[in-house]
Amino acid sequence: MGTLNVPGVAFLRPSDDRGRRRLHLPIVTVFLVASLFYVQFWLIPSRISSSPSELKLNEYAINRLEEGLRKCTEFNTPPIEYAIPPTSTGTNSRWNKYSGQNHTVILKNVTLFDGDKWFDGTVDVLFAKGMITAVAADAKTAEWFDDDAEVFDVGGKYVTPGLVDLHSHHLVGTWPAFSATEDTNEVNDEFGTLTPFVRSLDGIKPYDEGTTIIRSGGVTTSLILPGSANVMGGEAFIVKNVLRAGKDGEETVEEMLLEHGIPKEDRRRYMKMACGENPRRVYKHTRMGNAWVFRKHMERAVELREKQDAWCLAAAVAQDKGDKNAIHTLTMPNESSKGGLPEQLELESSVAILRGKVGVNTHCYEPEDFEDMLLHTKEFGFRIQAFHHALEAWKVPEMIKDSGYNITIATFSDFALYKHEGYGASLYAGKILEEHGVPVAYKSDHGEETTNAKYVMSQAAMAHSFGMSEIKAMQSVTSVPAKSLEQDHRIGYVKVGYDADLVVWDSHPLSVGATPLQVFVDGKVTLDPKKTKDSMPSSGSVLNRKSMQPAVRPLLDESIRDDICSKLNGGSDIVITGIRTSFLQDYQSFDTADRNLTLVLESGRIACFDVSDKCMSTNRGLPTVQLNNGHALPGLTAVSQSLGLAEIFAEKSTADGVVNAKTDVTDPEKLVYAKYGIHLEGRGFQRARIGGVTRAVTTPLMNGGFGGGVSVGIKTSGKKTVLDGGIFQSDVAVHLVIGQDAKDGDIATVSTAVAKLRKILKDNSAEDNMYGKVVNGSIPLIIHVENKYDIMQMIEVKKEYSSVNLIIMGGAEAPLVAHELAAADIPIILTRNRGGPDVFEKKDILIGPPLTRSAASVLAEANVTFGIAIPSTEGDSKIHFLPLEASWAAKYAGLSDQAAVDLVSVNIENILGLEKRGKGDIVVWEGNPLEYGAAPAIVIDGDEGAVVGCWPVSN
Ligand SMILES: *[C@@H]1O[C@H](CO)[C@@H](O)[C@H](O)[C@H]1NC(C)=O
Ligand SMILES: *[C@@H]1O[C@H](CO)[C@@H](O)[C@H](O)[C@H]1NC(C)=O
Ligand SMILES: *[C@@H]1O[C@H](CO)[C@@H](O)[C@H](O)[C@H]1NC(C)=O
Ligand SMILES: *[C@@H]1O[C@H](CO)[C@@H](O)[C@H](O)[C@H]1NC(C)=O
Repeated sequence: MGTLNVPGVAFLRPSDDRGRRRLHLPIVTVFLVASLFYVQFWLIPSRISSSPSELKLNEYAINRLEEGLRKCTEFNTPPIEYAIPPTSTGTNSRWNKYSGQNHTVILKNVTLFDGDKWFDGTVDVLFAKGMITAVAADAKTAEWFDDDAEVFDVGGKYVTPGLVDLHSHHLVGTWPAFSATEDTNEVNDEFGTLTPFVRSLDGIKPYDEGTTIIRSGGVTTSLILPGSANVMGGEAFIVKNVLRAGKDGEETVEEMLLEHGIPKEDRRRYMKMACGENPRRVYKHTRMGNAWVFRKHMERAVELREKQDAWCLAAAVAQDKGDKNAIHTLTMPNESSKGGLPEQLELESSVAILRGKVGVNTHCYEPEDFEDMLLHTKEFGFRIQAFHHALEAWKVPEMIKDSGYNITIATFSDFALYKHEGYGASLYAGKILEEHGVPVAYKSDHGEETTNAKYVMSQAAMAHSFGMSEIKAMQSVTSVPAKSLEQDHRIGYVKVGYDADLVVWDSHPLSVGATPLQVFVDGKVTLDPKKTKDSMPSSGSVLNRKSMQPAVRPLLDESIRDDICSKLNGGSDIVITGIRTSFLQDYQSFDTADRNLTLVLESGRIACFDVSDKCMSTNRGLPTVQLNNGHALPGLTAVSQSLGLAEIFAEKSTADGVVNAKTDVTDPEKLVYAKYGIHLEGRGFQRARIGGVTRAVTTPLMNGGFGGGVSVGIKTSGKKTVLDGGIFQSDVAVHLVIGQDAKDGDIATVSTAVAKLRKILKDNSAEDNMYGKVVNGSIPLIIHVENKYDIMQMIEVKKEYSSVNLIIMGGAEAPLVAHELAAADIPIILTRNRGGPDVFEKKDILIGPPLTRSAASVLAEANVTFGIAIPSTEGDSKIHFLPLEASWAAKYAGLSDQAAVDLVSVNIENILGLEKRGKGDIVVWEGNPLEYGAAPAIVIDGDEGAVVGCWPVSN
């Protein structure tokens, strides 16, 4: 009712003579309004009953004073400090007797990481009413025994605390995403870049099924943040990742909150802020402008805090002295104030930051932005809990430490390069920050498939493989984020008194494809054991390795590396010893039990590959590389949408450009050829090399629209140019897009795109052009398509044009038509090996274990020909993961190690008909590349017959 704020109400000031006089005219109206809407308003009786000389304090004034003083006390009370470790007699605030854990649970025979450390030997963990009540060697001791208890014998499996994700946008957006449910960023002209007053809470939709997917990866708690468009984005809230967990099983936001059950005023608070490129771009500010608007805003917050403090002091004195006049003045509305404690809802959270009541979480990438933000903290007096993303924090760990705030770096392990402020990332950041004692948390930034929070644990695994210690890597997704949130009295640990959030893993959590078998939240089971079992194969070579400890990639000392590599300098005659396994097609069965093989190369070709005795004759004192756990693999082939065409994805000046969605590509002359725009250098290439990727097929950049590009086959060694063999195949395939992405430019409907494709095939069957080649099958046609109905359309097209070598790329819902695809002989380049239903056209994607079977397992079972590619829609920072992605696919599909390697080598080569001379490229690795912790040692280009890589590195 806006009427209460009309100026007329302000006339009602009995302590003010002018006010009284002015009352004469509008008195009837005002009286009516006041009595209708504000009957309890103290001024009316007071006006009638008192005169200034015999002022009697009325109830309203006293209430106002007391209420204000209560808030003053709150202002000056620091956030609650909880005992750490918590007391064993505490309770889980979320527990209730209707829907809460109703049986004591004993997890027996657990290999436990408790948030601090791994236990020696196994233990039993007991929990009741959503809280851990005992962790000890043997649950059979009498005091634990409970007839009612449910006993889960986990047979020595790894158990960790439920993971804590410091940065997620699920719930404020949904899976699938709809325009109607996108509540992540409050971007509008009226509010501008400062929206500290909005709250993610108000945008949470407690039905986002993304929550269930996230939990299935072991993530039980997430900080739900507004996005990073705004300098101050709004308040963030912590949820437990269970829908409908409250007493009535209804979809309520409140019952998702970690602090449900705790009085609102005692709950922790968090603010999302952002610096650098995003707010700069969205509001067309510079960094200077970003800083100024923030400082100007904080000046207002400081002013309000000062007014409040002054009021608090005066009010306390007035109350103490019983000074009625002062109390009146302090509580009366007047022209400049509503009376009482000065407050402004708009500034409330900002003042609360200054009062240390709100933990600040700032999206910030680069050193100069950290430094600037730290200047602001000193200028206004507040503290930062965590810098988020922070991909360049590794450059300035001491500066960050010098702030004195023990700032957590909430970051990605390898996702980077997509924009300028993420271009200085290092794969060794975790290791470097650890060495400097800076806390690191790996987080998801969940929102799209590429940031699926289900796989947060694998970021810790990646960091570990690049040198972060096992313990810090484990802490980075459990206790470190819990501490950063100041919730380490409840979450992030498996210890007595903590919330009973636990994950039982099928293998060491830092190994490839580690998957939860069970996830407990507040003591309750959340995975259906039958579904979990059915989602996973019972055999396959990766499963046989499940007890292995994850390793760290060998990183040679620079001088040793130079020493070894200089001996090979340009030479192509070399001996490599210590090879234990070969995945090379012609060298697989060796007539020996001795797993120490020697590879002799002459002019870059294999002269001998056998036990060392048998290679004696060829081994004539050549330079020798000695490995301990060598693995010989073919060079892997990646399929990318950017490698060599975009260096920094968001910076146009570093890229060839995006295929114009408005181009009418029914005209073959308008096709875009990647071969004309390709550069054979950059950071993506470095990452490709450390992933054993020797060749790549790069598609012209297509970002919306029907496409229309011809891909090129390139070498990644960095030793070749376009003039001397860096391009191994000029035209690999023609690429078109069918599906929602096609609805751009001149195409308004998906059906139009299908019709256009058909027209292209019909009109060009006899033409001597690129489409003619497509029709007669001499060049493949790659259709980027996700939805099962769109894929069915492609099956129809293939039936009519059987000579077309039609290949599906993407293929989110391909498993749902796997048999039909196999029958139609349509192969797939699967980029959705670990996909998620982030958009509606992918809503039926197989999420993979522990919820569903994996895409790879269904495709393999149906005998679909397929290979695997890493999604590269924002660049190639994850391209080094290719062998591990294949390993992950093989694990979920129960395939052999050889089949895993094939998925990213021969299968891709065969599907695309890639040319190769000789026997192809060879990469000899130290370590098993199907597990974390292996690195390529020697790279041989099969076409050239030359060593083109020696211990390649990338940061
Ligand atoms: C205990 O909880 C389980 C699972 O929520 C439910 O199936 C069962 O009925 C509950 N038992 C009692 C006694 O409330
Ligand atoms: C724990 O499980 C392992 C593996 O199944 C088994 O060998 C061991 O005997 C079990 N220990 C106990 C105490 O049950
Ligand atoms: C900083 O935080 C980390 C974890 O977040 C904690 O382990 C460490 O003890 C803290 N250091 C200081 C100096 O408070
Ligand atoms: C493998 O054999 C070679 C040649 O006999 C030997 O020099 C090397 O030390 C062995 N390597 C390992 C890891 O056993």
